[in-house]
Amino acid sequence: MNPRLEQLHPYPFQKLRELFAGVTPNPGLAPVNLSIGEPRHPTPQFIKDALVAGLGGLSNYPITQGSDALRESIAAWAGRRYGVKLDPTTEILPVNGSREALFAFAQACVDSSRHGRRVIISPNPFYQIYEGAALLAGARPFFLNTLPENGFRMDWSKVPEDLWEQVNMVYVCSPGNPTGKVMSLDDWKELFDLSDRHGFVIAADECYSEIYFPLPNPLPLAGEGAKVMPKPIEGLPPLGALTASQQLGRGFRNLIVFNSLSKRSNVPGLRSGMVAGDAALMKAFLLYRTYHGSAMSPVVQAASIAAWNDEAHVTENRRQYAEKFAAVMPLLKDVLSFDAPDAAFYLWARVPGGDDAAFARGLYETQHVTVLPGSYLARDAAGVNPGRGFVRIALVDNLDACVEAARRIVRFVGEAA
Ligand SMILES: Cc1ncc(COP(=O)(O)O)c(C=O)c1O
Repeated sequence: MNPRLEQLHPYPFQKLRELFAGVTPNPGLAPVNLSIGEPRHPTPQFIKDALVAGLGGLSNYPITQGSDALRESIAAWAGRRYGVKLDPTTEILPVNGSREALFAFAQACVDSSRHGRRVIISPNPFYQIYEGAALLAGARPFFLNTLPENGFRMDWSKVPEDLWEQVNMVYVCSPGNPTGKVMSLDDWKELFDLSDRHGFVIAADECYSEIYFPLPNPLPLAGEGAKVMPKPIEGLPPLGALTASQQLGRGFRNLIVFNSLSKRSNVPGLRSGMVAGDAALMKAFLLYRTYHGSAMSPVVQAASIAAWNDEAHVTENRRQYAEKFAAVMPLLKDVLSFDAPDAAFYLWARVPGGDDAAFARGLYETQHVTVLPGSYLARDAAGVNPGRGFVRIALVDNLDACVEAARRIVRFVGEAA
C-alpha cells in the first residue's frame, strides 16, 4: 500500500473517543454534543422537494463539469454575494462538498517530481484535511500558528524567507475554523503580494462564509439604539477572497476558492459545494476530476440549484446562530475566556487551568457535554501547540440545548474551582 498513508494522523474525533474511553458520563443528564462542526438546523423543505423532483436524473451519467444550469446558479450567487463576475464555463466547478475538493485539489496541484515545489502552508490549528491532502500529495505541510496575541492572523513573517521558493500552495480558512477569524482586505493584500512574488497557489476555504452576525436592521441610531436593542456581536458579510482579489485589481491569478452548501443551507448530507477562481487552475483541476470520477449526481445538482438560488433560508439560518451566540456568550463569559467570533459557529475558548483535554473529559464525565480539545486541532509548531488550553464549542444544537450546555459548563467550572 501507499506508504504515505502511514503518515496520516488520527482524526480529532478518534482522539476524543480515546480520551473518553472508560469514562461514564453523568447518567442523570441528557447528552449535548457540541464537538462536531455538523450543522443541525433542519434542511429546508424546498431543497428536499427539489431533490425528489430531480430523481429522474438517476438515469443519466453526470458530466464532471456539472450542468450549465448549476454553474450558472453558482455564478449568479457569487455575483450577488461577492460582487464578482465569474465565467460559469471556465471559472466554476461543482464539487461533492468542499472536503473532497480541498483534498483533491492538492493532489492536482502539487508537483511531486524531484525538483518540484513540495511545501504546503496550513494555518495551525486547522481543518485536518489540509494536512492529509498535503501528505498524500507528497508535500510537506508547514504549520503557521494563529495565536490570540496576533488576533488569530497568519503571521507570514514567521515563514522562513528561503522556504517561499518551495511553497506550492497555501491553505487559508476565512472565516476560520476554529477561531472564527475573518481575513481583512489588508490580510488579503499581504497574501496576494506574497503569491505574486513567489508564485504559489492560494486555496481559500470559505465554507463558513454565510454564517455571520448581521447588523441589526434597521440600524440603531448612535447612542439611542444601543440601549434599546443591544447586540452581543454584529458584523458584515465576511470579505471573500474573490472580492478582495478583484478589489485589488489582480484578477483571480493563482487563487481558488472553496465554498459549500453544507453550513449555508443545512445540507451536510447532500455533499454539495463549489470551487471558483483562476481559469487555468480550474482547467487542470477539471482534468484531474475527470479521472478521479467525482462528478456530482444530477439529483444533487437539482437540489443544489434550488439552494444556491435562495437566500431567505440562509438569512433564517444566520438568525438562529446569532440567537444562540447572544444567549450563550453572556453565560460563559465569566468562566471561559474568549472573543466573539467574526463569523462561523464556533466559540474558541480558553479553559481555566490550561489543560484542554482534562477539561473536555471532566465536562463529559460530570455534565455529559462534549466539546473538542483545541490541541487535537493543531500540531506542535515553533515550540508550541497553539490549540493547547483552548476548547472548540460548536453551537450547532438547538437554542435550548446550547443554553443548557452553557449552564452546565458554568456549573462544571464552578465546582472545579
Ligand atoms: C474548515 C472546513 N472546511 C471544509 C469543511 C468541509 O465541509 P463540506 O465538505 O461539508 O463542504 C469543513 C467541515 O466541517 C470545515 O470545517
